[in-house]
Amino acid sequence: MENLIECKDIVKIFRGRGIGGASRGFKAVDGISISIKKTGSYGLVGESGCGKTSFARSILYLDPPSSGKIIYDGTELGALSRKELRGFRKRMQIVFQDPNSALNPKMNIHDSMSEGLINRKVPEADRVKRIKELLELVGISYSYRNRYPHEFSGGQKQRIVIARALTMDPDFIVLDEPVSNLDVSIQAQIINLLSDLKKEFSLTYMFISHDLNLVSYMCDTIGVMFKGRIVEEAPSELLVSDPRHPYTRRLLASIPGGAQRSGAEDMTADEESVETLATRVASRHKEAQGVKACPYYSFCPLGDGECVSSAPMLRDIDGGHVVPSGHKVSCHKV
Ligand SMILES: Nc1ncnc2c1ncn2[C@@H]1O[C@H](COP(=O)(O)OP(=O)(O)OP(=O)(O)O)[C@@H](O)[C@H]1O
Ligand SMILES: [Mg+2]
Repeated sequence: MENLIECKDIVKIFRGRGIGGASRGFKAVDGISISIKKTGSYGLVGESGCGKTSFARSILYLDPPSSGKIIYDGTELGALSRKELRGFRKRMQIVFQDPNSALNPKMNIHDSMSEGLINRKVPEADRVKRIKELLELVGISYSYRNRYPHEFSGGQKQRIVIARALTMDPDFIVLDEPVSNLDVSIQAQIINLLSDLKKEFSLTYMFISHDLNLVSYMCDTIGVMFKGRIVEEAPSELLVSDPRHPYTRRLLASIPGGAQRSGAEDMTADEESVETLATRVASRHKEAQGVKACPYYSFCPLGDGECVSSAPMLRDIDGGHVVPSGHKVSCHKV
């Protein structure tokens, strides 16, 4: 199937000031290349701070990448003028974890939802019709349209944010931890709503979460991120049943009840061990010498000299299968 999005070697560096005012950069995204199929759903997992949101914002050009290319439906976003980019941005929406920061507390929900439609010069009668349709589709009565955000529960607010994203007729939505702020019972409702909307509007999703169970339920492909890189990518079922990267195995083993289900049961106690002082020192020493070690080396029970002297690339591990499985791993030891 055709790709909606192709990311080629995306790097995002945040500039900051070090001690004494020296300029230094922090690489939040360190060379990611992935593709997302039209109407596909790509799950991005990884621990807090590994760069998931930074990567998503780069894809949408909300905060353009420091280098690399985003090709959206055949068009390279970096080559567009501001005006052209604005046109493309409508097709890409993002829903964040916290609906409170997404909704203006001083605006009733009808006005919040109208903004994008007014920008697009949609006539008033059509605006009203569209807002009514979308609110009802996400399970909010149109009779609530004059209410303010504080009059809704967290789950209702997230429904409104999702409806508002849909006013732009997007074909791609990034869902950045869309349910992590909600009660467990409400989470399931929002997840079901998102699945229904995906079918209804033939949407393409990037779903970001810490929760590997949730991502494997929602997504056809999963990318596991560690320190700004994708360390493993595979169709969801394969990633969960046959995880190969030591970090993915650690993530799966940390899910309660996940080890039996996940193929991570053959992990030794050693593999679960956290960073030891000796490996940390060895890896920092190499870094200081300018050698790019595997970013997982200092946490990894399998690491050896090879892992210190060069960073592994993400590569196919299909092993000559006639039909490629799409399983990719960035590890010298796999
Ligand atoms: N605007 C910014 N300026 C400087 N550093 C930033 C900025 N945004 C993010 N970072 C840094 O980049 C790294 C990656 O942050 P990011 O928010 O992308 O991680 P994340 O994987 O989304 O984490 P979480 O799961 O907690 O949301 C972090 O170390 C963060 O401090
Ligand atoms: Mg984030």
